[in-house]
Amino acid sequence: MTRSLASPHILNIADLRAAARARLPDVVFDYLDGAAEGETTHRDNTSCFDEVMFRPKLAVKIPQPDVSTRVLGTGIALPLILAPIGYSRMLHPRGECAASAGAARAGTGYILSTISGHSLEAVRAENEKVFFQLYLMGGREASEATIDRAAKAGYRALFLTIDTAVAGFREKDFRNGMSQLMGKPLLPKLKYLPNILAHPRWLAGFLRDGGMPHLPNAVAAGGPLRATDVAAALESAAVCWEDLEWIRNLWKGPIVIKGIQTADDARRAVDLGVSAVAVSNHGGRQLDGVPGSLRVLPAVVDAVGEQCEVLFDSGIRRGADILKALCLGAKAVLVGRAYAYGMAAAGDDGVDRAIEILRSDMVRTLKLLGCPTVRALGRGHISMRPGFRAD
Ligand SMILES: Cc1cc2nc3c(=O)[nH]c(=O)nc-3n(C[C@H](O)[C@H](O)[C@H](O)COP(=O)(O)O)c2cc1C
Repeated sequence: MTRSLASPHILNIADLRAAARARLPDVVFDYLDGAAEGETTHRDNTSCFDEVMFRPKLAVKIPQPDVSTRVLGTGIALPLILAPIGYSRMLHPRGECAASAGAARAGTGYILSTISGHSLEAVRAENEKVFFQLYLMGGREASEATIDRAAKAGYRALFLTIDTAVAGFREKDFRNGMSQLMGKPLLPKLKYLPNILAHPRWLAGFLRDGGMPHLPNAVAAGGPLRATDVAAALESAAVCWEDLEWIRNLWKGPIVIKGIQTADDARRAVDLGVSAVAVSNHGGRQLDGVPGSLRVLPAVVDAVGEQCEVLFDSGIRRGADILKALCLGAKAVLVGRAYAYGMAAAGDDGVDRAIEILRSDMVRTLKLLGCPTVRALGRGHISMRPGFRAD
């Protein structure tokens, strides 16, 4: 690991975020860091963790807490999986391969987005615990071929993201000229170029890697989708409940519905026979104004009981956040920006550092809580401020 990533320079995920901000042009940093509209949900995603407090069992010796668990039939060394992040290859040339390899080194899994810059086969070669996140871009025929490819490559589960009826309105992307920069004509780009030129290390890596993103896993009838066509393709083929039966016939492994925000939708997913639901609001990037994701978790856990596994994401920045989600009934969590900041700052080393920060946070917190294993965490280890839950 590079010296600049080690303690005391990088102590927490906020430090990795600052390192990413220094390396990336505004348009790329804000794409990663930003969220939808007024970013109300994004702020609540992180701040709502403060409304859940630990209740430790003290004077208990826990020399080596066990942070391993099992989810979707796969043993993982940590109760976290790396979440799908579209356009990861724009953050760093190793992009999805760095995330997959970092997860493998930590003994855990990675979920590859359809909107990814490395082929699903190359990402699978880095890690045997890989899952595929499916958008139906390009329509059913194109998706059928992608599902088949993912199965043949050895992906272990399919994540269907249901919160993307249309791309969220991320105002910073508009102000920074994201679509002008993605498009071909040079003239509209000029206004935005000075900030990009002010980040030569990122720019050199980006150009050496071939420049504008290619999407080898989003294949439509005419070949790989162009980055400029993604938003329209997403909207015209958003995943609906009616698609589930068709997908079930094509994919024999576990199916996870990602983007659950109410107990009602969780029950609907269970009725359709899914293996897991992932409580998530896409890190506040889609519908602004929904509650912080953690507020919804208790109601979803109560609604599904033992009928399927419950995963959780949105807002995790510390190991203690992960433990709070497990106390509220999540089997494991997905982390998004937390590892992506590391990847953007330093590729594979940055992913490793992000995971190590979260791992050591969890080990220390379990010792302080007096709990020997993440699998023993429950509501008895926490108390919630009045009004915390969204039902
Ligand atoms: C830059 C960025 C791109 C994302 N792309 C996808 C995607 O392609 N598919 C998807 O299901 N979720 C996507 N997400 C959502 C994440 O998988 C995850 O739900 C979210 O990041 C969790 O919130 P957190 O970043 O606060 O941990 C993206 C998130 C970010 C930040």
